[in-house]
Amino acid sequence: MDKKIKRIGVLTSGGDAPGMNAAVRAVVRTAIANGIECVGIRRGWQGLIHSDFVPLSRESVGHILSRGGTILYTARSEEFMTEKGRLKAVSTCKMLGLDGVVAIGGDGTFRGALELSRLGVPVVGVPATIDNDVGCTNYTIGFDTACNTAIECIDRLRDTMQSHERCSVVEVMGRNAGFLALYVGIAVGATTVLVPERPIDFQRDVVERIQDSRLAGNTHFMIVVAEGVGSAVEIGKRIHDAVGMDPRVTVLGHIQRGGAPNARDRETATRMGYYAVNAFVEGRGNCIIATQEGGIVEIPIEEALQRKKHLQMDRYRIMEIMQYGTKHNLFGI
Ligand code: F6P
Repeated sequence: MDKKIKRIGVLTSGGDAPGMNAAVRAVVRTAIANGIECVGIRRGWQGLIHSDFVPLSRESVGHILSRGGTILYTARSEEFMTEKGRLKAVSTCKMLGLDGVVAIGGDGTFRGALELSRLGVPVVGVPATIDNDVGCTNYTIGFDTACNTAIECIDRLRDTMQSHERCSVVEVMGRNAGFLALYVGIAVGATTVLVPERPIDFQRDVVERIQDSRLAGNTHFMIVVAEGVGSAVEIGKRIHDAVGMDPRVTVLGHIQRGGAPNARDRETATRMGYYAVNAFVEGRGNCIIATQEGGIVEIPIEEALQRKKHLQMDRYRIMEIMQYGTKHNLFGI
């Protein structure tokens, strides 16, 4: 990119995540500090197709750092998946005089970013999703806050499960990824954690885990299930049939996506937003801002989308040792 950037757009797309507002604020304020105007595109890619925008000033992003959700609204746009929709989005960029767009969201958002960049609109992506499942970055904005929200809820559940000596099945978010489930499972001392990345053997992964936990002296059991594994209610029924307990099932759902971002999410979002604009200022675009060992890096969008991030399975072993006291290697790792 040789020409000087004068105006950029910023949007949030896909599932919202705590800290998205902090990223929007950082983009706007960094842009203005560099003499660049900033336009907020509402409702993600859908808003870009339908010219749904709002000018943003330093003041207009005041007092949003601590707010969950996104002031720009968000959407999952079917229309942007069509060529017609994308061409309309390019027309909006031309009409608004946008020299680039900062897109805040997850992998779906970045697939959209790649398509738009191929049509000549430079895009910089900022990873934000409570699933933490963006391959190119260690961390996505919103993950830590969502973990803490789930942990707080499960700690409360544990109190009543302990009193009644019951089994609890808790479903946390994560359609395709178990990061949230596994981190939360470790942090709440779960009996077992079921994730979509690992094929489940009900007898080995649930029934025997409960039996082992009983033998270790426990009288209540916490089964954490990632959404992508299947119905928590069904798992509850199967536990009932297999071990004769009467589990209580709780689906935490969208409560995990709300709430004020915590320190990590505010700080990371602010740095990522800053570096996103910085990429444009220094004449670069078409990249994703990522956290890796040692700091923040830029990764070309196409390459970023090819990267895979795997669950660190050693966390299972650590969880088992905490739960049963001995190293069974029960999960075959
Ligand atoms: O943003 C990611 C996520 O929260 C997933 O964990 C979940 O499967 C999905 O979004 C839910 O999406 P929606 O809000 O559209 O129901």
